[in-house]
Amino acid sequence: GATDVSALILSRIRDVPDYPKPGVLFKDITPLLADHDAFSVVVDELAAGLEVDKVVGIEARGFILAAPVAYRCGAGFVPVRKKGKLPAETLSASYDLEYGSAVIEVHRDAFGPGDRVLIVDDVLATGGTALAAVELIRGAGAEVVGVSVLLELAFLKGRSRLSDVDLRSLVVV
Ligand code: PRP
Repeated sequence: GATDVSALILSRIRDVPDYPKPGVLFKDITPLLADHDAFSVVVDELAAGLEVDKVVGIEARGFILAAPVAYRCGAGFVPVRKKGKLPAETLSASYDLEYGSAVIEVHRDAFGPGDRVLIVDDVLATGGTALAAVELIRGAGAEVVGVSVLLELAFLKGRSRLSDVDLRSLVVV
């Protein structure tokens, strides 16, 4: 059941104190990725019941989850990347970081008109990245069917910034 799934996932996420800087407790998903059973459950749960044309993965850790989810959904994979990494014509969206801002991009021709799109990432923290991705996909003329993440950090209130999308998180901490 759902409790077993979240217990399995939590048992494979390692807390690393003071990374990348003092006071931050980093959620390291590499033990989960290295465990076939846990990784499979995560991919199946992220993909469950969704009929989509494209799955968007957000650089970098989002790619690792989104590609197998796309395969599982019978959908194509589309990368959303940090500024300057995509070779052809792009659309850009900026979002706030703790200090300053960042830009993510997608290829202008990544979607067909009305494509149904699922966004996949590892962690939802402040929600800024996911919100910028939603903006990019809508700007490209496609429909955001949902945002699915492995882990939601509830204390950062990202969910409240994504009130008009269907947000699925496998584990909330
Ligand atoms: C992390 C994570 C999400 C984002 C969540 O990525 O993988 O994409 O931050 O934070 P937010 O909800 O506050 O926007 P990061 O920018 O560290 O990139 P990486 O995966 O390339 O390390």
